[in-house]
Amino acid sequence: MAAVFAACATEPTLKEAYKNNFLIGVAVNTNQIFEHDQRGVPIIKSQFNSLSPENVLKWGPIHPHPGPDGYNFGPADRYVEFGESNHMTLVGHTLVWHSQTPQWVFLADDGTNTVDRDTLLQRMHDHIQTVVGRYRGRIKYWDVVNEALAEDGTLRKSRWLKIIGEDYIAKAFEYAHEADPNAVLRYNDFSLENPLKRNGAVELVKKLQAQGVPIHAVGLQCHAKLDWPTAEQESDTIDAFAKLGLKVAITELDIDTSASSQQNRSADISLNGQDQTNAVKPAAQLGINLNTNRLPDSVQQVLAQRYAELFGAFLKHRDAVTLVTFWGVTDGDSWLNRGRRNHPLLFDRNGQPKPAFDAVIKAAEEFHGSK
Ligand code: GLA
Repeated sequence: MAAVFAACATEPTLKEAYKNNFLIGVAVNTNQIFEHDQRGVPIIKSQFNSLSPENVLKWGPIHPHPGPDGYNFGPADRYVEFGESNHMTLVGHTLVWHSQTPQWVFLADDGTNTVDRDTLLQRMHDHIQTVVGRYRGRIKYWDVVNEALAEDGTLRKSRWLKIIGEDYIAKAFEYAHEADPNAVLRYNDFSLENPLKRNGAVELVKKLQAQGVPIHAVGLQCHAKLDWPTAEQESDTIDAFAKLGLKVAITELDIDTSASSQQNRSADISLNGQDQTNAVKPAAQLGINLNTNRLPDSVQQVLAQRYAELFGAFLKHRDAVTLVTFWGVTDGDSWLNRGRRNHPLLFDRNGQPKPAFDAVIKAAEEFHGSK
């Protein structure tokens, strides 16, 4: 418990340091929502003022079976209660996505053939009406459509696109607006820092705006690497959407520290060499104990520097940026621990703040000091 206490007692907290700029959110898992995670929950309550659900509001978990009885609201209800009882701004993630959506959604009632356009639109409408409607006035931000673009900026050839056609995106926003007219509706995607994909998103938003579709914000997932995106790319990306009159949220922030995932973008080869054990191999095969392996100090410093420069870009655009959400509480919670250990967040596996935590706090202090 001493470790937990130390992390909670850290002053100033993230939400305090950024209170004049934007909300600081975190994605929570089921153990945290039900307050079973005694290491994570005190950190969540003390450091953050917004929550996103890692999984419980995705179509698969909340609506696993067809029909009005096919919903499983328990964990999502608890998520909303947990956030409200801690006075946090809540995010709904996500309504329409190509992934984590059950097969039945795309199949006709015979269970074999592909569903037709009108039926799929009806299912989408029912789902959005039911889920958004249930939490109307309580969940403020909704990721209405997630990841509709391919890397070249064209529309991803998802089943939503193939069955309904291009207007599935506009319809999803209209249905969400109908279900909660006061909710802030976001389009959410990754790698929008890359110009081709960003241009595709800008064109998509312009098209939706020209049609009068209620889209209010863009979510930049920002699953970053040690060498990507640069602060300038991040800044240009935020600017591109702010110029369209949209608010911007950083929705899934983490920085992957595994050498293998840097995709040779890093010019610093020695950095990769320092962390050999991060290669993609099953951790068990390497005899790695995911709970105790530490990130080398030199890489800790690189990570801290990366967080500082990204927060510099967010602060620069604080008029457009409403919320910055980390995708997980501690390194041990991160989705990036897939067969390898990873160290992408501000708190280590013991719930201790890392040098990156200090760097994020310092970025706010320096920014305000320079004003
Ligand atoms: C995407 C989704 C998130 C999550 C991550 C990986 O970014 O938007 O909900 O699934 O992938 O965890």
